[in-house]
Amino acid sequence: MQTLDQLTREAVALANAENKHNIPPQDAPLSDSVLEVSRQMMICNSCRYCEGFCAVFPAMTRRLEFGSSDVHYLANLCHNCGACLHACQYAPPHEFKINVPKAMAQVRIDTYTAYAWPARFGVLYKNNGLWIAMALAIGLTLFLQMTANFLNGANALSLDLSNFYSIYPHNTLVSLFLPIFAFVTFSLFMGVRHFLGDIKQATSKESATGVALTEAAENALTLKYLDGGHGDGCNNEDDGFTKFRKYFHHLTFYGFMLCFSATSVATIYHYLFGWEAPYAWNSLPKALGISGGISLALGCIGLLYLNLKRHPLHGDPSQKPMDIGFIFLLFMTSTTGLLLAFSHQSTSMPLLLSLHLGVVMALFITLPYGKFAHAAFRLAALIRFQTERRLPSNIGLSAE
Ligand code: HEM
Ligand code: HEM
Ligand code: SF4
Ligand code: SF4
Repeated sequence: MQTLDQLTREAVALANAENKHNIPPQDAPLSDSVLEVSRQMMICNSCRYCEGFCAVFPAMTRRLEFGSSDVHYLANLCHNCGACLHACQYAPPHEFKINVPKAMAQVRIDTYTAYAWPARFGVLYKNNGLWIAMALAIGLTLFLQMTANFLNGANALSLDLSNFYSIYPHNTLVSLFLPIFAFVTFSLFMGVRHFLGDIKQATSKESATGVALTEAAENALTLKYLDGGHGDGCNNEDDGFTKFRKYFHHLTFYGFMLCFSATSVATIYHYLFGWEAPYAWNSLPKALGISGGISLALGCIGLLYLNLKRHPLHGDPSQKPMDIGFIFLLFMTSTTGLLLAFSHQSTSMPLLLSLHLGVVMALFITLPYGKFAHAAFRLAALIRFQTERRLPSNIGLSAE
């Protein structure tokens, strides 16, 4: 008699062969993480208790078999809210060992790795943790401080402590950050492009309509699927629901966006109007930067607290270092920025500037090979979901 594992392997191989899903060669061995999600989805597809919880289950009911592209797609649709784990009668210690959030998290990191650009940098995801984040931030700060000492040399005592450009000339800053920013953006773009190519095979080749794009953006901006489908929030450490994960994520996300807008507005001021930093406290870049910095710092404290308290079965514990390394860099970026803004005229300003720039650089360098990838991959999966659910289901089941 065939074991469940053998049956799963055969079903996945069939799904891959029929749908020509895989961007990696079709005869590539199926990873254990893909097989595990596939096994669990076949059980969930018979049970369907969690149908209304999130986008994963309606997407699952459109399928009878789960090839690797289907699994990659579903894994990035999952928001790791934990609702299906806490509701499941087949969760460990039951012999079926159903733990959808954990299995999905393990596939998610494999998709980031598989679609990383350049490909050989994919392994960095597995090593990206708190120690790397700290070492990079400290190393880059020292490097920048040495560069500043070298540039300013004999003028060190006559520096204008209210003007950052007397420490690092504007052109030096641009030539340090622009290439890194361009590389990060391109590398994330390429990763998501490969990923979209893969999951389009599993969903549909139709381009997303304006309505689908708007709804996907709304899902991402409101984190619709981080609430278990009932609006009371997600699980964290136990069976109780909490909205705090969503709220702290909002503080983090929107705080980051405000800081980003502050830098963008400052760039426009500089190049379009010739207005040079530092800006007054009541200026737009300052208002955006200070409010964004406070929001980002508070969001990171909350997310870290919830992350450390999370139930051990919830998600993939081996990815905690990557999550925490990212939260640490975001927190350090916001707090060093805020300290810098309050340090004008102080002798600590040059060192704080090097620290802020060192941390920002460490954050940028690790962005495409760490937790930040979740934003781009999840948004891509949501766009495919909102496109697919508007098409007739090819197995005659309703889309929702
Ligand atoms: C398309 C936009 C985004 C979506 C849909 C999204 C969604 C999510 C979801 C569902 C989680 C919880 C599950 C998990 O740990 O993977 C999460 C975690 C996290 N997100 Fe986002 N996110 C987005 C953008 C961002 C951005 C721009 C930032 C910050 C710059 C950010 C920071 C974080 C952090 C720090 C965590 C880890 C929290 C933890 O360890 O529990 N996210 N995100
Ligand atoms: C995602 C990236 C970044 C974040 C989250 C961030 C965050 C912050 C925050 C919260 C502040 C304090 C508020 C303010 O004065 O606006 C600040 C100030 C500052 N940041 Fe950043 N920053 C980032 C990128 C950068 C980059 C790329 C540079 C330079 C190349 C930079 C240079 C500065 C300077 C010079 C200040 C002091 C501004 C002043 O006091 O007038 N930051 N940053
Ligand atoms: S997670 Fe458990 S309860 Fe939910 S659909 Fe799957 S098997 Fe059923
Ligand atoms: S953990 Fe939450 S988002 Fe992920 S499949 Fe379960 S219910 Fe859906």
